[in-house]
Amino acid sequence: MECWGRMLRAFLSGPGRRGATWGSAYSSWQPHRPVPGLLNATELVSHWTAIFEKEGIPEAQESSEYIVAHVLGAKTFQSLRPVLWTQPLTPWQLQCIQELSSCRLQRMPVQYILGEWDFQGLSLKMAPPVFIPRPETEELVEWVLEEVAPRPHAVGAQGGPLILEVGCGSGAISLSLLNQLPQSRVIAVDKGEASICLTRENAQRLRLQDRIWIVPLDVTLKGSWAHLLSWGPMDLVVSNPPYVFHQDMEQLAPEILSYEDPAALDGGEKGMDIITHILALAPRLLKDSGSIFLEVDPRHPELVGGWLQSRPDLSLHLVAVRKDFCGRPRFLHIRRSGPQRGCPVHAWPGPQPARVPG
Ligand SMILES: C[S@@+](CC[C@H](N)C(=O)[O-])C[C@H]1O[C@@H](n2cnc3c(N)ncnc32)[C@H](O)[C@@H]1O
Repeated sequence: MECWGRMLRAFLSGPGRRGATWGSAYSSWQPHRPVPGLLNATELVSHWTAIFEKEGIPEAQESSEYIVAHVLGAKTFQSLRPVLWTQPLTPWQLQCIQELSSCRLQRMPVQYILGEWDFQGLSLKMAPPVFIPRPETEELVEWVLEEVAPRPHAVGAQGGPLILEVGCGSGAISLSLLNQLPQSRVIAVDKGEASICLTRENAQRLRLQDRIWIVPLDVTLKGSWAHLLSWGPMDLVVSNPPYVFHQDMEQLAPEILSYEDPAALDGGEKGMDIITHILALAPRLLKDSGSIFLEVDPRHPELVGGWLQSRPDLSLHLVAVRKDFCGRPRFLHIRRSGPQRGCPVHAWPGPQPARVPG
């Protein structure tokens, strides 16, 4: 959980933020009503930082800076035009800041309050309860890019890799890969309707919708993946699955527990429930020598390695483990060897769907 704390801090001090629902959870708290027209942005940041600190809100200063900057039309306080730091705010701006700050007092993640967050240079729309992309997931994306870019042979029939992402959430991983691998195509699946909708919206906002197929799918349901065969053998499977050990769930920060979908986090008793479904499914979909990249808990490299040894029928091998910025082993590269299980190459149905379903 220590790393969750560090993650949350990195989260709240990175190029994006998080937040909670609108409401009156701070009914016992009496706001210091700013005097319209007399306060400027710098004073407002100090004002709300002091209130957040008093109320025990994590990342008090960063939270208030993000909110004030957002209302003034900037991503960060530091990127505001200096003249705006000292210019008196309008009553409307003061009211907006007051309302957004009240959400933060209810522990709403800043990302939800702002309604957007940056990931790998892309501005993504955020909305509860869809999982907010974490900074370490950017490291997973970077690892995938490092592995794919120098391997031009690792590409699909149309010249770029065909990638499956399991559990796309806001679309952060899929859209970053599409953005940085111009010839790639992605199939993004998630069991959550809100995630499917948000990934679609983000794909359209970023004009990446022509190379992504966004499919509602629960990988734990028997045979649910069968229609993915129509896309042909995949080069890569990528996932940041729910991997929190069930008994650790209650220790998560209020920001997470109150606003994010528990189904995006809870990986069952040993955090392996969805991971094992992905590993059992992947050999049916991957091409020979195809790869799986996973973000996991630091206890998982050993657990996953042991589980793979108990399933030699899957022909999957853990080939590398990478540490995150906390120095903890968090990312796995697993490679498939041998022909596709249960679906030989010549039996792949074609052609691929021509447009985003739905
Ligand atoms: C940790 S979140 C990752 C979201 C996104 N990829 C990211 O990194 O920001 C895990 C995602 O897996 C989805 N998920 C959970 N169980 C699933 C299942 N059985 N089948 C498909 N998706 C699932 C959740 O809805 C959630 O969006």
